Amino acid sequence: MSTFHPFAMERWQSTYENRVEFNLSESGVHPLTLAELLEIGHANVDDVLLGYGQSNGSDALRARIAALYDGAGDDGVVVCNGSAEANFITMWDLVRAGEEIAVVVPTYMQTYGLARNVGARVVEIPLREEIGWQPDPDDIARAVTGRTRMIVVTNPGNPTGAALSNEARAAIVQAAQRTGAWILADEVYRGAEIDGSDTLSFFGSHERVVATGSLSKAYGLPGLRIGWCMSDARTAERLWARSDYTTISAGELTDHLAAIALDAEVRPQLLERTRGIIRTGLHTLTSWFEQTGGFHWRDPDAGAICLARYDADISSDDLAERLRTEQSVLIVPGSHFGLDRHVRFGIGMPTPQFETALERVAETMQNVALPA
Ligand SMILES: Cc1ncc(COP(=O)(O)O)c(C=O)c1O
Repeated sequence: MSTFHPFAMERWQSTYENRVEFNLSESGVHPLTLAELLEIGHANVDDVLLGYGQSNGSDALRARIAALYDGAGDDGVVVCNGSAEANFITMWDLVRAGEEIAVVVPTYMQTYGLARNVGARVVEIPLREEIGWQPDPDDIARAVTGRTRMIVVTNPGNPTGAALSNEARAAIVQAAQRTGAWILADEVYRGAEIDGSDTLSFFGSHERVVATGSLSKAYGLPGLRIGWCMSDARTAERLWARSDYTTISAGELTDHLAAIALDAEVRPQLLERTRGIIRTGLHTLTSWFEQTGGFHWRDPDAGAICLARYDADISSDDLAERLRTEQSVLIVPGSHFGLDRHVRFGIGMPTPQFETALERVAETMQNVALPA
């Protein structure tokens, strides 16, 4: 039997995120309550029938998701349980043992791990810290060959928070067109851009694209567990057939709530709320970095995350473990992304708690040796 590669970051979060006082491992903003969502949407859910809904997503929800993409039809949408399921069924449908995929790294390691778990070979395309976490087009050209089944890219990125430059995006599309590779674009942070710009989806850039997304980050609704695959209608049919084997459908109640969140009047309010939280959180964190010293970071373009390199002489695993056990603060160690001496801070927490959490981090950092 082949080796199972666990998903290190999700294991860390699943194990501890609800067992600490301060969860800075979260990459989304402080979530809305059900009552807040219903109030913004002037809606109520009393009459929602708790049956099996349309298993690829209700017509209303699929239409609202398709409207997020230029030139998309609702027959190309498959609603899933989070983008986690969307990524899963896409990999399951498109990648086989012995095939090769090119993954832009560092990244959320789900697709990377899934590929390894089915016995595919992963070729890395590095994002380079020194050029603002962008890939070098020459690295893309080298990594993507006639053997490449799929290029996987997370845009805007996690853990970097960086959106791809136009040049980098074009180089990825060109490589896919040159080789016929699929693009799986995990766009779960689209809509959570700090400056309000809309990251251009990969959907529509090439014939073979699956773009995945969800309500978890930009909308502050991860507990709905609503995500989706956006592709062409034929691919969507196949992906839908895969989901018959995974979860059958998303929840009927959450499908309904998701349609409310993506209503033309509601959506902008949720996105504005998210941006406000991210801007405030980033200000709190960067002021703290400046005060504390010893951290090096690039302001994220999107997402409630900030990746920082630190000078202190401690591995990121040891630092994360000390913060968890000494301070009841959970952060994501860079090791989970193959980046030691880095940590990923979640910045979506309400300010008073976030400030207290950072004071606690500072306390431990003071006791960590600086390099000689
Ligand atoms: C890049 C990326 N993709 C997918 C996910 C999964 O999110 P969800 O299943 O809640 O949409 C996450 C969660 O952190 C993520 O960061």
